[in-house]
Amino acid sequence: MKMLIIGASGQIGSYLAETLRSSHCVTGTFYAHPRQALVQMDMTARKLVDKMVGQLAPDVILIPAAMPNVEVCQQSPDLCCKVNAKGVFNVLDAAEAVQAKVVYFSTDYIFDGINGPYRETDRPNPKSVYGKVKYKVEQRILQAQVPFLIIRTTVVYSRENQGKNFAMGLINRLKKGEAVKVPYDQVGTPTYAPNLCQVVRELIELGKEGIYHVAGPDLMDRYEFSLEVAKTFGLGQNLIIPVSTVELGQKAPRPLNGGLRIDRVQAQVSTPLMGVREGLAEMKRQLDRHPFGCVSFRSKRRTNDGI
Ligand SMILES: NC(=O)c1ccc[n+]([C@@H]2O[C@H](COP(=O)([O-])OP(=O)(O)OC[C@H]3O[C@@H](n4cnc5c(N)ncnc54)[C@H](OP(=O)(O)O)[C@@H]3O)[C@@H](O)[C@H]2O)c1
Repeated sequence: MKMLIIGASGQIGSYLAETLRSSHCVTGTFYAHPRQALVQMDMTARKLVDKMVGQLAPDVILIPAAMPNVEVCQQSPDLCCKVNAKGVFNVLDAAEAVQAKVVYFSTDYIFDGINGPYRETDRPNPKSVYGKVKYKVEQRILQAQVPFLIIRTTVVYSRENQGKNFAMGLINRLKKGEAVKVPYDQVGTPTYAPNLCQVVRELIELGKEGIYHVAGPDLMDRYEFSLEVAKTFGLGQNLIIPVSTVELGQKAPRPLNGGLRIDRVQAQVSTPLMGVREGLAEMKRQLDRHPFGCVSFRSKRRTNDGI
């Protein structure tokens, strides 16, 4: 199949490109962080989106592209809306014009975090600006005139060039000997990015449509997850300080009892979803092999979690 990945320079997008390239014809875009073989594209520029999608006429358009920092979204709702809603709407309109299937990446932040982990059939009730905008896009996709997959995921970790996912941010800070405060009351289901992308590939190749929760099987709070990260990478667990979300002073409301149930996807694909220990061990092997991912060349850039 001919595939276009909008946001192939990001964490999930880069693993999508790696996973899909072996058996599909893949074009990927970047926005502000150039990577070899990717094409620059701003999805908020309607004409550019129309031109690229029109010329390429892909069978599938994957949209991991976003401004996913929930704290920045909370402080700049207009910018969040411009990138995360209007930008994606541009891509959806262009997809409809060429009748491409759309694969959109969403989040457990569309839930309120009262009764997680959540199933696909549970009622969304987002509390943060980021969550509200992601849910608005989901609702638009449900009305789309093309086949679609909405992939909801959460707490995604991996070796990553930009070094801004929660686990990479933690590793980089612990390596410098910094103490790191993490919330003990934010519960979720951490997800290993390459594993997520293998499952997404299988869903596409099986011709599946609709909403799927794709996440790791282990339910744990951020403090427990952080201890597992430190243990796997041989870093100081004593530097990790458990605090409440209130003490942390994050601006955007978090779904405290979050996380995603994965019964639906597990019943339909053969790729098993990796637990935290297995995923972190694999991430360590990747970092040992390609250590540049740990040296954050964008060290001044915020992490996606604002830690
Ligand atoms: N990471 C998580 O824990 C998590 C959890 C749940 C859901 N998600 C969702 O999964 C998706 C991918 O997350 P991620 O962790 O891979 O994020 P990421 O690493 O920050 O990647 C975001 C991508 O979007 C691109 N982008 C930003 N602004 C753009 C614009 N105006 N036009 C076109 N592309 C633009 C970035 O390009 P440059 O890098 O070149 O600037 C980058 O390739 C997001 O939709 C997010 O909401 C993520």
